[in-house]
Amino acid sequence: MKLKAAVVGLGYWGPNLARNLAGSNDFALAALCDLDAGRLERVGAHYPAAERFTDLDEMLARAHPELVCIATPVASHHVLAAKALHAGAHVFVEKPMTMTGAQSRELLALAARLGRHVFVDHTFLFTGAVAELKKQVASGGIGELLYIDSVRINLGLFQPDVDVVWDLAPHDLSILHHVVGQVPVSVRAMGSCHSPSGLADVAYLHLDYQGAVSAHLHLSWLSPVKVRRMIFAGTKQSIIYDDLEAAEKVKIYDHGVDFDVKDLEERRRVLVSYRKGDMRAPNVPATEALAVELADVAAVLRGQGGARASGADGAAVVRVLEAAQRSLAQGGALVPVESA
Ligand SMILES: NC(=O)c1ccc[n+]([C@@H]2O[C@H](COP(=O)([O-])OP(=O)(O)OC[C@H]3O[C@@H](n4cnc5c(N)ncnc54)[C@H](O)[C@@H]3O)[C@@H](O)[C@H]2O)c1
Repeated sequence: MKLKAAVVGLGYWGPNLARNLAGSNDFALAALCDLDAGRLERVGAHYPAAERFTDLDEMLARAHPELVCIATPVASHHVLAAKALHAGAHVFVEKPMTMTGAQSRELLALAARLGRHVFVDHTFLFTGAVAELKKQVASGGIGELLYIDSVRINLGLFQPDVDVVWDLAPHDLSILHHVVGQVPVSVRAMGSCHSPSGLADVAYLHLDYQGAVSAHLHLSWLSPVKVRRMIFAGTKQSIIYDDLEAAEKVKIYDHGVDFDVKDLEERRRVLVSYRKGDMRAPNVPATEALAVELADVAAVLRGQGGARASGADGAAVVRVLEAAQRSLAQGGALVPVESA
């Protein structure tokens, strides 16, 4: 039997959730909710079987959804998710899961007490490209991971309640968490604001992981061109993941540098040789990520597996964002990431 699902927040992203739930074999789109009645009518017109509400409490009391998907501005995630959990629903919360680490912890504790699941929408983890990235890094084919460099810039949608770090970095951080398999130990963040909002619209994050791996993220809402590119550099090979490429999103380069150290005391005698080999682009499935993600959520709710993007993963990303926020406020100081 299909699970009853609802979407709260039908602005830019919520309609994508509604469309995927309505087209899913696992879920029935039972209810839609938005404070804005006009928006609710416009989106709701496509889904006549879904009841429409402008108030979440009323929706929870009348529609009794088993899964509530929350696609409202970040500042409201915590309160709305807690209400849905109290009403007995599981929740699927947009990224970033909450505004603070304390709110994430509270939400996870509440869900555990009530025996409900919290999922976070870390959409990119469900793309064929990121699955391929993880496979390549985990197989050891690229050798030891050295560093990651990511550029995520465009003329972005300025958010009212969060800066560019909270808006865009969750994508990079969730991909890094998934592929590297750890949360960074510390963050340094620099940024600047070019609007009256006071919120950074251009930012640079430097993350240090345990071992020698580091990552650098460039985030901007002010770039005239759109770039979505990550480099995963390894000792043997490097991978370039370009999300804007239509077909070859993941390219593996057999290029690199070999160092031949003849005499450790005599640095000048280190011989550098450049390797230039082939490039290959593995075929990656182009299935819409949200469809894969909702199937994953349904499998967990039916007791058929663990979540690829759980509430704990959402909380881990929020802890890094919080550290980045502190570092930004301190002009780029090194800030340790809190442990779970
Ligand atoms: N996963 C992704 O790739 C992705 C992409 C874009 C946005 N998002 C996330 O989705 C969330 C929403 O972003 P958006 O750009 O769609 O925002 P938006 O401002 O376009 O839409 C938010 C909607 O929520 C409604 N709303 C606000 N408070 C409400 C409440 N209490 N009850 C019911 N409705 C309420 C608003 O009326 C509005 O229609 C954010 O967390 C954002 O980070 C995720």
